[in-house]
Amino acid sequence: MEAELKNIPVEKSKTTKINEVDFDHLSFGSVYTDHMLVCKYADGAWQTPKIVPYQPITLDPAAKIFHYGQSIFEGMKAYKDENDKVFLFRPLDNHKRLNISAKRLAIPELPEEHFIEGLTTLLRLEKDWIPTAPGSSLYIRPFILASGKGFHASPANEYMFIIACAPSGAYFSGEVKVLIEQTYSRSANGGVGFAKAGGNYAGQFYPTQLAIKKGYNQVIWTDDNTHEYIEEAGAMNIFVRIGDTLITGPTSDRILDGITRKSILKIAEDEGIAIEVRKITVSEVVKAAKDGTLKEMFGAGTAAVVSPISAFGYQGTDYDLPKLEQSYASLLKKRITDIQYNRAQDKFGWRYEV
Ligand code: PLP
Ligand code: COI
Repeated sequence: MEAELKNIPVEKSKTTKINEVDFDHLSFGSVYTDHMLVCKYADGAWQTPKIVPYQPITLDPAAKIFHYGQSIFEGMKAYKDENDKVFLFRPLDNHKRLNISAKRLAIPELPEEHFIEGLTTLLRLEKDWIPTAPGSSLYIRPFILASGKGFHASPANEYMFIIACAPSGAYFSGEVKVLIEQTYSRSANGGVGFAKAGGNYAGQFYPTQLAIKKGYNQVIWTDDNTHEYIEEAGAMNIFVRIGDTLITGPTSDRILDGITRKSILKIAEDEGIAIEVRKITVSEVVKAAKDGTLKEMFGAGTAAVVSPISAFGYQGTDYDLPKLEQSYASLLKKRITDIQYNRAQDKFGWRYEV
């Protein structure tokens, strides 16, 4: 398999859409590059991946993805520096997490070579699609779906691993105002919250729509049992700054082990910022907002990078966050993106040249 993989077959697209794209005004994840990677699992093994022109896929209506939601995904970005060199950020961690998700969803684990060789072959082909306008990058979506059919509620025997890429701008177009959720939950103990399972996101849409109707952009998820602990912000891990201490919740069954989150913690430590990784209560955040010690809240994730929260709503009251000249969010965002775009020394060994 190793020998085959060094030479991933490439079927080139006869046409390109690249000239139709306005690379200076990109939205997030809505235009796709000319090629994609497809790798099938059948007869008990992952087959050799191949690169093909970007196209719709055909699935049997009885494919288990449609009925039982057996699907997982990852989110990554490719960054181009000023000398046109291309970098990924901690891609082996995405591969590891894909397999953590796979295990939980009873999906066969994908070998590392299929992921890394496949991804780098695809990116070398799609290099011209990596945008360079400030804040933009090539968003990469690796995912696995159950293509095997059957109405029996049990794992499929066939799967597809696909990587699609979308030149993208910022995930949020402006300030992020959040609502602390008191009714719905995104995850529970013993559940799949720690996995990047498609269904985790589907379950968030309705409560998020309700929050949007009330004028918020995003929900802050609290624990399913008491709604007293702050856990995640939509598709981001959450950080709170009280006084000069940066606090984030510990990862658990219910919280995704974000790569941005753990990188931010490392950078903050390197900056000498006081850090606490511990449960955060809603009441301490409300109290801090009232007594003026709540200085910042921000979300962190691959798509959203570091997204400052401008205000939060709780039990019918909105609490505004102060606008700081020198925030932890802007310092940490600068440091992480400087590493990602090869503008700074990579002291932690996170960059991966493609
Ligand atoms: N939490 C959730 C629920 C997410 O979907 C994401 C996005 O991937 C994150 C946190 C942040 O994770 P990462 O920094 O690895 O992208
Ligand atoms: C990412 O940050 O890459 C994610 O996967 C979040 C996504 C739901 C947009």
